[in-house]
Amino acid sequence: MRYGHFDDERREYVIDRPDTPLPWINYLGTEAYFGIVTNTAGGYSFYRDAKLRRLTRYRYNNAPFDVGGRYLYVRDDATGDFWSPSWQPTQSELDDYECRHGLSYTRIAARRGGIRAETLYYVPLGETLEVWRVNVTNERDTAAELSLFSSVEFCLWDAQDDATNFQRNFSTGQVEVDGGTIYHKTEYRERRDHFAYFACSEPLAGFDTQREAFLGPYRGYDQPRVVEQGAATDSIAHGWAPIGSHHVRLALQPGESREVVFVLGYAENPRDDKFDPPGSQTINKRNVRPVIERWLRPETVADGLAALGDYWDRLLGGLHVTTPDPDTDRMVNIWNAYQCMVTFNLSRSASFYESGIGRGMGFRDSNQDLLGFVHMIPERARERILDIAATQMATGGAYHQYQPLTKRGNNDIGEGFNDDPLWLVLGVSAYVKETGDESILDVPVPFDNEPGSEQPLYEHLRRSVRYTQERLGPHGLPLIGRADWNDCLNLNCFSDTPGEPFQTTENVSGGTAESVFIAGQFVLAAKELAAIADLRGLGEEAGEYRAAAEKMTGVIVEHGWDGEWFRRAYDFHGNPIGSGENDEGQIFIEPQGMCVLGGVGLDDGLATRALRSVAERLATPHGIVLQQPAYSSYRIELGEISSYPPGYKENAGIFCHTNPWIMIAEAMVGNGDRAFDYYRRINPSAREELSELHRCEPYVYAQMIAGKDAPTHGEAKNSWLTGTAAWNFVAITQWILGIRPELTGLRIEPVLPADWPGFQATRAFRGATYEITVRRGAEAGLVVDGERLDGTVVPAAEPGTVLRVEVTVG
Ligand code: BGC
Ligand code: NOJ
Repeated sequence: MRYGHFDDERREYVIDRPDTPLPWINYLGTEAYFGIVTNTAGGYSFYRDAKLRRLTRYRYNNAPFDVGGRYLYVRDDATGDFWSPSWQPTQSELDDYECRHGLSYTRIAARRGGIRAETLYYVPLGETLEVWRVNVTNERDTAAELSLFSSVEFCLWDAQDDATNFQRNFSTGQVEVDGGTIYHKTEYRERRDHFAYFACSEPLAGFDTQREAFLGPYRGYDQPRVVEQGAATDSIAHGWAPIGSHHVRLALQPGESREVVFVLGYAENPRDDKFDPPGSQTINKRNVRPVIERWLRPETVADGLAALGDYWDRLLGGLHVTTPDPDTDRMVNIWNAYQCMVTFNLSRSASFYESGIGRGMGFRDSNQDLLGFVHMIPERARERILDIAATQMATGGAYHQYQPLTKRGNNDIGEGFNDDPLWLVLGVSAYVKETGDESILDVPVPFDNEPGSEQPLYEHLRRSVRYTQERLGPHGLPLIGRADWNDCLNLNCFSDTPGEPFQTTENVSGGTAESVFIAGQFVLAAKELAAIADLRGLGEEAGEYRAAAEKMTGVIVEHGWDGEWFRRAYDFHGNPIGSGENDEGQIFIEPQGMCVLGGVGLDDGLATRALRSVAERLATPHGIVLQQPAYSSYRIELGEISSYPPGYKENAGIFCHTNPWIMIAEAMVGNGDRAFDYYRRINPSAREELSELHRCEPYVYAQMIAGKDAPTHGEAKNSWLTGTAAWNFVAITQWILGIRPELTGLRIEPVLPADWPGFQATRAFRGATYEITVRRGAEAGLVVDGERLDGTVVPAAEPGTVLRVEVTVG
């Protein structure tokens, strides 16, 4: 069953009933000001940092999940009937409802009793504000006397503090109302210089800024007393809960429409003693007034929306494919690319599953996210790489996370996830392959942001590789540390007293657990770094990396191979994990993917055998589970992985991030059917028909789908902010469709499902445009502008040129 449909032409997902199984969300904002918006206008906004600069409030663990947002109320002043044109919060019965989530904008339209209201929400480029444009139409054949009320509830900036520190916060709230604009200025008196504003294009019949005055005692947003009575109270908040609400009266003739614009924004305005004498409590609005005036004008709003469309044309224009599969096309051309940009902007901070007050930017996560957006915004990818690398330690180790506002390593979690440093090599390599910009390797970058410690970025990569080499365990495999990619496989956890809660060893570097996953990742990273070293004329060094990769390959084959698949790890006591010797957790997905990605087992048949085992033991119709058999009980020596009930998250859930590794591995062994089959199993668009089971949005990937051991097998969770986005984009575009940037040019080497006759693509690469046609034929070959080339790499062309590339596959 579906709750809507794709409108590919307009690049929108159209939701046609409001009661989706979960809030189906979208993101507003592309640069500094962001908001989450649900299909019922729920969600909140923030400036840069969802924790520290939260503009509007979200109440955690609320029921329903999706309450609190950018709510409007339409009231028929003749009858007193009032309703919300986004369904929430009044949940009044609607004659019509439609939500269109587009690229960085959302439009929600509804009709009741002959009145139609359509609201467009978006954040204009270059601004730190959001626009709500409401069109109210009287479709009756009689005149209508209406009231329109807006509402937002302000967050007192630090969302964590806002949700907990009531004894203080009930007394700090302050607002100012000036010329119909509501200014939220809590904290301004501390000279923090920031405030929010909420403005309306129409003359006001009234306003409210004090929540309880608006709602009335013991009422919620579903039945505000002010709306019920049809008159605002002009309340001014002193402490308690500041809100913003405007009251506008609209008299509409039959067929008449009125456009009302609301602007909610963020400003930082230093006080100016010339205008704001010391002690003055009013905020400095001089810079902000013209901005507000401009954005309340309908023409500006229309132009801003068009500019946003152009922006997305530019970003998405770099790759466009036409294949026999519409689900592939719309994910590659629109939604998967869009989701990659959202992970770039939001990392893992704010969604309906990430609180916005928890995690910062992950070292591992951000490097992988890069794989999905580097082709769209290479300049920002470059900046991101330099930010990440500056948090690396001189040892080559990495803080697991850093704060987006300060860009500094976050000590809460510290270091010791031993896979982290290697992702930097993979991220940088992807950037150089895409852009050809080798100069980044020479950029001086500090270690741990220490001034004076700068070394060329290339030196950071060397240390990443060395970090692994210096931390090998008893079998010669890399030490896992606190965990590797799988945060929950905590093998250096143990308890001296059986039955006691687990402890993580204080000094994980003293832990001897080893990771076959990191071994495979090391082989991959060492080969990538060898290619970069060659590029820099460091042939000897390149040889050393290749030799190290070969040596590690030998260790994997000797100690990491279990007979039919790659083992996962060795625990603290030297017992294998992910082995037929285990009673549970005999086979894990991660090393099957990562070892093959590193090239291990490609020429001795191990790769094919490992992939066969994946197909036989891990694959389900809803995707490939992380391991089997699931852990049936908690095991101190394995840590968090076994804390999850079977089938969820890392305990045998379909952890979607890992599935594309298998798709890529299948493509590497030439199995296009299997690669594409796996791709479709988790492709959200291909799962649209299953929406009742899948429950999450059909237009973006979720981190997890419940595995076969779970009672809710097939149910997705944790949508939007996941490395799944980037890796699926890589798997489908670079390995199945096979359009793969390399250091020397653009490789085009599709590994297609057998029933595909071919496909077409347009790919921008280093400033040139490649018009690619792939067809089946007896003899594989590559023809560029009529000329036959050897191999499958099209050398990088002059910027500005358009190349016609014809590829024949067998
Ligand atoms: C989750 C992991 C996640 C980690 C983040 C764990 O509880 O299971 O998937 O990466 O928390 O800190
Ligand atoms: C989510 C984390 O963001 C990611 O870094 C990790 O690899 C996976 N969980 C698996 O544990």
